[in-house]
Amino acid sequence: MKGVIVYKSKYGATSQYSKWLADELGLPLVKAEEFHPKSLSDFDFVILAGSIYIGKWLFRDWVKQNAEVLKSKKLFFVMVCGTPSNDFKEQERLASTNIPTSLMRNSDIIFLRGRVVIKSLSLMDKLALKFASSMVSDPIKKKEMQEGYDDVSRTNLVDVIRKVRQYLLNINVKKAEASLV
Ligand SMILES: Cc1cc2nc3c(=O)[nH]c(=O)nc-3n(C[C@H](O)[C@H](O)[C@H](O)COP(=O)(O)O)c2cc1C
Repeated sequence: MKGVIVYKSKYGATSQYSKWLADELGLPLVKAEEFHPKSLSDFDFVILAGSIYIGKWLFRDWVKQNAEVLKSKKLFFVMVCGTPSNDFKEQERLASTNIPTSLMRNSDIIFLRGRVVIKSLSLMDKLALKFASSMVSDPIKKKEMQEGYDDVSRTNLVDVIRKVRQYLLNINVKKAEASLV
C-alpha cells in the first residue's frame, strides 16, 4: 500500500508534526504547494496535515476541490490547532465545517495541539488573535491566546500512528485471507 503525507503549515507546528510522522511511518512527505492533485492517483492512502486559523482548516478548499478523487482513498485528516484535546464539541464542529460529508466515511480525523509564539506572528494574525481573545471568557483559553503556548510534542502522535498502522494491518489481513480463497 502506497501512502503519502501532504502538509500545510504557517508557523511550523504542522510541519514539525509531519516530519516526525514521516519518520515514524517511513512515508514520503510533500508540502501542499508542491503536491499536484494528479499525483493522488499514485497513492492508496493519504495523510493531510494542516493547521486551523479562525475555524478554517488550511486544507478545506483543497479537499473540497479534490473530493471526487479523494473519495477512492483511505484518508487521515490531521488538524493542528489550539482547541483543547478534550473539547470534543468544538472538534466535531471543526470536522463538520471543514470536511465534506462525502469524505467522512473513509476517513479518520485526528486533532493535535499546536503552538502559538506571539512574537513570531504576522501583524494580521496578532490582531486576529487579540480580537478573538476578547470574545473568550474561559481564563485558560484567554491566557493562551494572549501569551501563547507550546504543546507540540512527538508523543502526541501516538494516536495517529496507531490508526495508520492498524489500517495497514487490516489491509494485509484482508489480502492474506483473499489469497487463501
Ligand atoms: C490568528 C490565529 C487564529 C487561530 N485560530 C484558531 C482556531 O480558530 N481554532 C483553533 O483551534 N486554533 C486556532 N489557532 C491555533 C493554531 O491552529 C495553532 O497555533 C497551530 O499550531 C498553528 O500551526 P502551524 O504553525 O502549523 O500553522 C489560531 C492561531 C492563530 C495565530
